[in-house]
Amino acid sequence: MQAHLAFTGYLGRRLHLGVCGSVAAYKSLELLRMLTDTGLAVSATLTASAERFVSRLGFEALGAAPVYGPMFDPAQGPFAHLEPGQVAQAMLVAPATANTLARLAHGLADDQLSSQALAFPGPLVLAPAMNPRLWDAPATRANCDILRARGAVFAGPACGEMACGEQGGGRLAPLEEIFTAALRAVTVQDLAGVDVLLTLGPTREYFDCVRHWSNPSTGVMGAALAVAAWLRGARVHAVCGPVSLWLPPGVHRVDVTSAREMHEAALDLFAAAQWACCTAAVADFRPEPYGPGKFKKEAGGLAVTFTPNPDILADMGRRRAPGQRLCGFAAEAADLEAQARGKLRRKNLDLIIANDVTAPGCGFAAPTNGVLALDAQGRLERWPVLPKTEVAWRIWDWMLALSA
Ligand code: C5P
Repeated sequence: MQAHLAFTGYLGRRLHLGVCGSVAAYKSLELLRMLTDTGLAVSATLTASAERFVSRLGFEALGAAPVYGPMFDPAQGPFAHLEPGQVAQAMLVAPATANTLARLAHGLADDQLSSQALAFPGPLVLAPAMNPRLWDAPATRANCDILRARGAVFAGPACGEMACGEQGGGRLAPLEEIFTAALRAVTVQDLAGVDVLLTLGPTREYFDCVRHWSNPSTGVMGAALAVAAWLRGARVHAVCGPVSLWLPPGVHRVDVTSAREMHEAALDLFAAAQWACCTAAVADFRPEPYGPGKFKKEAGGLAVTFTPNPDILADMGRRRAPGQRLCGFAAEAADLEAQARGKLRRKNLDLIIANDVTAPGCGFAAPTNGVLALDAQGRLERWPVLPKTEVAWRIWDWMLALSA
C-alpha cells in the first residue's frame, strides 16, 4: 500500500463487498486485503458466476466474514439477504458485471447479491468490469444512468487492453480508485462542503534546459492530507510539484514545476478556499538561468546566482479573508518550538505543524512523521511518530475544531 493511502482508523466500521463473475474477480481478493488493513470489517457475497473464477474459501481466508453464496443455502439462515443492509455502512460491488448492473438498475432480487443490494439502505459503490462492447451497449449505458441518478457512485471503469485482447473502456479501475471510493462511502462526511487547498511536493528550479535545483520531498504528507480531506467529504484542490503519487480522480489536481508556477496556481485557487494547508517543500531560492540551451561542462566551472522565490504561504497569510483558515508546516533541524512559534506569527497562520527532519522516522520520504502542532490560540501538542495518514487525520480534526 502506498504510504499516503495507508489509512488505519476504520475499526468498528463495516463494508459489504459483492463480487460478480468477471475474470477481474481475482483482483477483489487484493482489494479485500487493502480494505481489512484499514481496520474495516468486510463481509462478502459471491455470485454463482463469481464462484467460477474465485472461491468463497479464498475470501474467508483473507478475512471476509461472513461470506455468502447462493440464496436458500440453509447454512446461511433465512435472512441472509437482509443482513448486510442491517450492519454495513456501505456496499461495494467489484467487479460489477453488465448482468449485475442490469439487475441492480431494475430491482431484481432473484439471487443473493441483487437481493442484498435491493435491501441495502446505505451508499452503493460500483466498479464495473466487462468487455468494451458490453460497456458501450445502450442498455448498459441506460442502466448506469439509472444507478447514478439513484446516487450510486462509480469507480471506473478504466480504458486499456482487456483480457480478451480488445482495447477500450471496461477494464476494472485501478485498485486504489476502488479502495478510496469504498473508504469514502464508509467515512463520516464531516468536511462536506469545505473547499480545501493544498500545496505539496518539491519544486524544481531549472538553471539550464536539463539541470535543476530541488530537494528530496516526495509529497507523501501533502498527499495523505489531500486523500484524508477527500475521504471526509471535502472538495480538494491539490497543487502538486513534481511527484509521482496517485490521487483519487475526485481530487482537483494541478501539476506545476517551479515555485513561481506553484505560487500562481495556489494563489489563484486560494480566494475560493475555506482552508489552505501548505505542505510543499518550496525551493526558497532559484538559480538564475545560465542562458538558453544546455551549459557545456567544457566551459569549465559554473557560477550560479540565486534569487529568492515568492513565499506562497506568507502571501496567503497576507491576503486571507476573515474565516479562511491557514495551516503551514515547518521542517526544522533544531529549536522546533521556537521556530514554529515564529513562523505561526510571521506567516499569520491558525496552525503550524513542525517536525525535526533529522529525527528518526521524520525526514523526507518517510511513511511516518513525529510532529509538534501549535495553534494561534496557544494550544501545543507533541505527537509521537505516527503514519503520515494518521498525522493528516489529526490535522483536519484540529482545523475542524478551530472552525467550530
Ligand atoms: O519559512 P519556511 O520555508 O520554513 O516555511 C515553511 C512553510 O511555508 C511550509 O508550510 C511551506 O509549504 C511554506 N512555504 C511556501 N512558500 C515558500 C516557502 C515555504 O509556501 N516559498
